[in-house]
Amino acid sequence: MDFIRGEQAATSVTRAPSLPVYTQEEVTKHSSIDNGVWVTYKGSVYDITEFVAIHPGGDKILLAAGGALEPFWALYAVHGQDHVLDILSEYKVGILQPEDCKKQEMANPADPYSTDPPRHPALVVNSSKPFNGETPPSLLTDSYITPSALFFKRNHLPVPQVDPAKYKLQLEGLPEGTVSLTLDDLKSRFPKHTVTATLQCAGNRRSDMNKIKQVKGLNWGVGAIGNATWSGARLRDVLSFYGFGPEVAAKARHVQFEGLDQDTTGTPYAASIPLSKAVSEEGDVLLAYEMNGEDLPADHGYPVRVVVPGIVGARNVKWLGKIVVSEEESKSHWQQNDYKGFSPGTDWDTVDFKSAPAIQELPVQSAITWPEEGSTVDHSMKEVTLKGYAWSGGGREVVRVDVSLDGGKTWHVAELQNSETGQKPGPPPPPGRAWAWKLWEITIPLPEGAQELELVCKAVDSSYNSQPDTVSPIWNLRGVLSTAWHRVKVKVE
Ligand code: MTE
Repeated sequence: MDFIRGEQAATSVTRAPSLPVYTQEEVTKHSSIDNGVWVTYKGSVYDITEFVAIHPGGDKILLAAGGALEPFWALYAVHGQDHVLDILSEYKVGILQPEDCKKQEMANPADPYSTDPPRHPALVVNSSKPFNGETPPSLLTDSYITPSALFFKRNHLPVPQVDPAKYKLQLEGLPEGTVSLTLDDLKSRFPKHTVTATLQCAGNRRSDMNKIKQVKGLNWGVGAIGNATWSGARLRDVLSFYGFGPEVAAKARHVQFEGLDQDTTGTPYAASIPLSKAVSEEGDVLLAYEMNGEDLPADHGYPVRVVVPGIVGARNVKWLGKIVVSEEESKSHWQQNDYKGFSPGTDWDTVDFKSAPAIQELPVQSAITWPEEGSTVDHSMKEVTLKGYAWSGGGREVVRVDVSLDGGKTWHVAELQNSETGQKPGPPPPPGRAWAWKLWEITIPLPEGAQELELVCKAVDSSYNSQPDTVSPIWNLRGVLSTAWHRVKVKVE
């Protein structure tokens, strides 16, 4: 490999004198002729024309054509990995003229993540820039309400700095034309509504799919899920106040949301939900400004986020900047070309994102949080206690959790907890509005002479949906909707 990593890149000038030296102007020119794509990185020049078609992030790579990769890679730090640098090295064609190198260094912005908030050290970090961290399993079911600091954080971009005094929420697609609301408007004009709802990332438990065959995405364990109380204005109240009625309903089908977090091109994170969910009295969709009784934390969307109970995390847009009532779904990458499910037989060469609907309601899910994989159960205790969570999308209530110690040959029914007070069970949620998870627990006698146990859990929801027993039949290239029976192996000593 002639590619020299990181800060050492400049020394490649002396180590590889045979490579031609290009000016920035020449690099840009090469990118505009013959559909070539040339880029620079840390003083080297690359002709990545052939790589564009196989770039895992799609066409976005073209945004860097003719210029430096650094500003883009600063946003998507996943590129800093050795294997990415190895791939890039294969396309090296020259050296960037030193003066242009210096100019680039001066022009490159500071670390866009430098203003991200501090995070709790207990979070298991899956990527630091953007920040993605999950709750460790042992803490996940300690309390029915997940403390905000320990709640999983899933960011695609730097956390935007929003001044609450200057915050404006734009509303489009209603008879009143474009409306702009302040934070105070939202708090004072509409009744405050509180909902306890579980938020789960589509990629929760993706690591189980990776064990079958590598998928693309963050390697989440069982902790990309949490349960919080959210307070704010009901979206339906806000839409009605600004003129939503039968006239709009006759045409519109979706409600789109845009975040204030943007990539280098100014494109915001965005997603949409069906209009029927947004305006339903039973839908409980909130423009939330509080989480667990306090202002939303910066990582969770301060000052306002959408909370769409029962719907995949990706549509719960944080740092909300704009709402559009529309005939169309959001055009965003995350609505159109991500967060969709495919057949196990679909690969990156054959996938057609247009052929699959965007994930909205999530399927039934459960996981064991205690004991943890690879731990040891004390034989002298004669019994073992298991803990976990169970939840289903679309407001479907979890009605049962089955637990096995022998890989699914024999089963026991766990006790369910669905309230903050630890009541087992607490009062049932209104039918079709079971937005919050149930924690479960069970103590089972240890089987005679067992040296190893394969703990399994599976949940059943109010529509009698259950989880598939194995991962292979639901494996998909993005590793979403990973809901097979959760299996944990422990030793008995
Ligand atoms: N909203 C914005 N503006 N930007 C984001 O990156 N991530 C989405 C969603 N809303 C995201 C966003 C995804 S994929 C998930 S799973 C949830 O936020 C995570 O919410 P949390 O970080 O509050 O747990």
